[in-house]
Amino acid sequence: MKSLEIRKKFLGFFEKRGHKIVPSSSLLPSDPTVLFTTAGMQQFKEYFLGKSSPYGNKVTSCQKCFRTSDIEEVGDTKHLIFLEMLGNFSFGDYFKKETTELAFELLTKNFKIPLSKLWFTYFKGEENIPEDKESLEILKKIGVSKNRIYKFGIKENFWGPTGQEGPCGPTIEIHYDLIGESCQKGKNCIPNCDCGRFIELWNLVFNEYYQNKNGKLSPLKPKGVDTGMGLERLAMICQKKPSVYETDLFEPVIKEISKNSSKPYSLNPIPYRIITDHTRGSVFLASEGILPSNVERGYVLRRILRRAIRFGRLLNLPKNFLISLAQKVIEIYRDIYPELRSRQADILTIIQNEEEKFGKTLKRGLKQFEKISAKGKISGIDAFHLFDTYGFPLELTQELAKERKLEIDIEGFKKALEKHREISRAGVEKKFGGVGREATYEATKLHSATHLLHAALRKILGSHVKQMGSDISPQRLRFDFSHPQKITTEEIKKVEDLVNQKIKKDLKIKKEEMSYERALKSGALAFFKEKYPKIVSVYSIGDPSDPSGQVFSKEICAGPHIKRTSELGRFKIIREDSSGAGVRRIRAILE
Ligand code: SER
Repeated sequence: MKSLEIRKKFLGFFEKRGHKIVPSSSLLPSDPTVLFTTAGMQQFKEYFLGKSSPYGNKVTSCQKCFRTSDIEEVGDTKHLIFLEMLGNFSFGDYFKKETTELAFELLTKNFKIPLSKLWFTYFKGEENIPEDKESLEILKKIGVSKNRIYKFGIKENFWGPTGQEGPCGPTIEIHYDLIGESCQKGKNCIPNCDCGRFIELWNLVFNEYYQNKNGKLSPLKPKGVDTGMGLERLAMICQKKPSVYETDLFEPVIKEISKNSSKPYSLNPIPYRIITDHTRGSVFLASEGILPSNVERGYVLRRILRRAIRFGRLLNLPKNFLISLAQKVIEIYRDIYPELRSRQADILTIIQNEEEKFGKTLKRGLKQFEKISAKGKISGIDAFHLFDTYGFPLELTQELAKERKLEIDIEGFKKALEKHREISRAGVEKKFGGVGREATYEATKLHSATHLLHAALRKILGSHVKQMGSDISPQRLRFDFSHPQKITTEEIKKVEDLVNQKIKKDLKIKKEEMSYERALKSGALAFFKEKYPKIVSVYSIGDPSDPSGQVFSKEICAGPHIKRTSELGRFKIIREDSSGAGVRRIRAILE
């Protein structure tokens, strides 16, 4: 059974039973406290908390998920950084009994998985939360024999919440027995044994509690159901493969690697798998408009791309090998996720740029690492040097150090990085007139124009545009931002026109003070995100005549700014060029 059919069968099964099929949400969740979408329930979180669901009370989905927590495990037979999660959800509709019966029916009847291969776990009760005896009874009733049911604690059988608060509850986990016999642990070889015999297939979460910000649980009403099963794992079982990488979701990529490598997959599965997994992850992150950078999501993308490139060298893959792999990934998924088709050019450009950039320094960096290794340990300064000069993410240096059994001073690295950031920030503020006193009127005007430009770029080019740097001299502004390709003359004209239109409207520039969290929630853009004080100033430029009703520009910023846009005169872009991979630079003046 091809993965396409598996996806369809799962969704169709629940659709037939009154569930609405909801498309996957973005990998970037709306909850600002969470970096990526890691579970199918995230887009439905508020419907578990009582908000009425526009889709009805029973839904099903196949959700794109990105889990950085599993990165160390990637390379084994089943862990992935990017995965598709099949799920069914009930918001106050059915509960434990129906959920378990449905899962049982789908696996054994529709996917024809023999019951003899399935093992079950449920919540044993821990930390004042009672044992989930109801689930035990249900399992017994549907015919699972007692020696196939085991109970575990919070770590294994209690799920959620995502983010700082939310729905959570006990789970039934369905495990598949890949081997059929015990390891040397004998009777103690049961689900969650680390011998590789079992694979966790489906997680049935019964959301009967609400956990608040302080970690306190209270009963949740109405109760909900959230289930999640990795498509890749189900495909591995249905296609009877030894790992997810042999399924049709990965095989074309593995084949493409082996075409170019002198080392076969059978003898080198780990580098093959890491490269394949990370390429998939990168393609999907790039398809969401994320660009490689040194902070947050962009850093995750950079890290996995660079890790894939390093493993590519171990397999002697040629320069720029990632592009053809990314193309394979796009081919596999473009009919399911149309954003891969429509953004194909951007995705490939982003990956190519990063590969070219890192390809230049990797070899020299590895040499430098060899030199450092001779000292017997990696100091913080050395790790920072590898980061700053050769583009080695800390995690890459850590990995290399681990391979050599060398110690590494992480704290020292963090200190060196912080010091570096402070110096560049001071530089920016000095030039930028951030503290006000030295800022001339002309610089202040250019600063306000920079905010208009930033907002206009996001409107015209897309919301992937993010400030990467800014510099103001009394004559001109310079603005660096993320964008994968050259900006056309037509786009430049559109951006200029939009800024000038806002200037002409004589809009007010409003300053407010609020907590950093509130500022972010209200949609204000941030630059040096992690180093803002608790209370920040937010400058917004609103256009009351805008039919969308949204403010045009809103940014966290130290100021100063002018009071009204009409003070700016006429805005003109004088130059557009590249400022590194995936970063464009605009210079503009006020006439
Ligand atoms: N939220 C649960 C999980 O991610 C079930 O969907 O495992």
